[in-house]
Amino acid sequence: VSRHLLDYGDPLGFMPLREAIATYLREARAVRCEAGQVMVVSGSQHGLDLATRLLLDPGDRVWLEDPGYLGARGALMAAGARLVPVPVDGEGLEVARGIRVAPDARLAYVTPSHQYPLGVTMSLARRLALLEWARARRAWIVEDDYDSEYRYTGRPLASLQGLDRHGRVIYVGTFSKVLFPALRLGYVVVPPALVDAFAAARGLVDRHPPSVTQAVLAEFIAEGSFARHVRRMRMRYAEQQAALVEAARHKLDGVLEVSPAEAGMHLVGWLPSGADDRAASGTAQQVGVEAPALSTFRLRRSGRCGLLLGYAAWAPSELRAAVDTLAAALRCVRS
Ligand SMILES: Cc1ncc(COP(=O)(O)O)c(C=O)c1O
Repeated sequence: VSRHLLDYGDPLGFMPLREAIATYLREARAVRCEAGQVMVVSGSQHGLDLATRLLLDPGDRVWLEDPGYLGARGALMAAGARLVPVPVDGEGLEVARGIRVAPDARLAYVTPSHQYPLGVTMSLARRLALLEWARARRAWIVEDDYDSEYRYTGRPLASLQGLDRHGRVIYVGTFSKVLFPALRLGYVVVPPALVDAFAAARGLVDRHPPSVTQAVLAEFIAEGSFARHVRRMRMRYAEQQAALVEAARHKLDGVLEVSPAEAGMHLVGWLPSGADDRAASGTAQQVGVEAPALSTFRLRRSGRCGLLLGYAAWAPSELRAAVDTLAAALRCVRS
């Protein structure tokens, strides 16, 4: 270990890692950035917390995807934001609805590559409309690109940030999904005009990210291991998703409608209309299957009920066994 790694470091992070991240994001995600704009953080949650505290005043209105990510909701509430739920349809966040309900919002939080939890990809028209609103209103957009590496069909999608010509997007990414969550490493790509403010704030919060883990990760990326790992995991997760869809087709017909998805690490299983997803999730939990209720992620009490089915952590045989167990439990409750 070189001695400089033991001293205080840059509040934005270890430069070789920031360079590796910038190169990766330019090539894989069409993010427009230089290493100087990349801040290494302790996972996306840290990035969301810093960004919302810096960019918002208490009472500011914020558009939030509904249903949406609870981690973002919590960070925004902690920053004193007034949440404006904006529904998500087949094209992603309903931008026109957001503009109608709260044109003066200060910030919008979105997951355009793979909406969490519904899995929708935001259309180009919606992306452009969102960017145009942010430009005209001088609002901020927080793009959470948490699992974009796992896209199985079609061309890799460019980020929303890559379309931004006015420095309105704060891009947040994480190594939690591509490597592992306990690593606690993620990154924020900050518009050039905000870099100094983010660096100053970061210095006051925790000075800088731990240098030794950053150096290890920088080397892991530089030697090509990261790219190999992502390729391998993408193939494995595609197989696991296919196993889950196939098992669900055979065993869950009539109780849970599960379709394949182009991306991600989970699927949504739709319950028949009128079903209560929190009760179904409780039933699943009792038989040892973790399947969070979709309604937990909703701000408004409306919309179809469903269960979230994660498939990244289990082998195909384990997924098949879980589907058998879940099917038996859900059928038993229905009959
Ligand atoms: C939408 C979304 N963003 C980010 C994350 C990852 O958070 P972190 O990087 O803090 O581990 C997750 C994990 O579940 C997520 O679902």
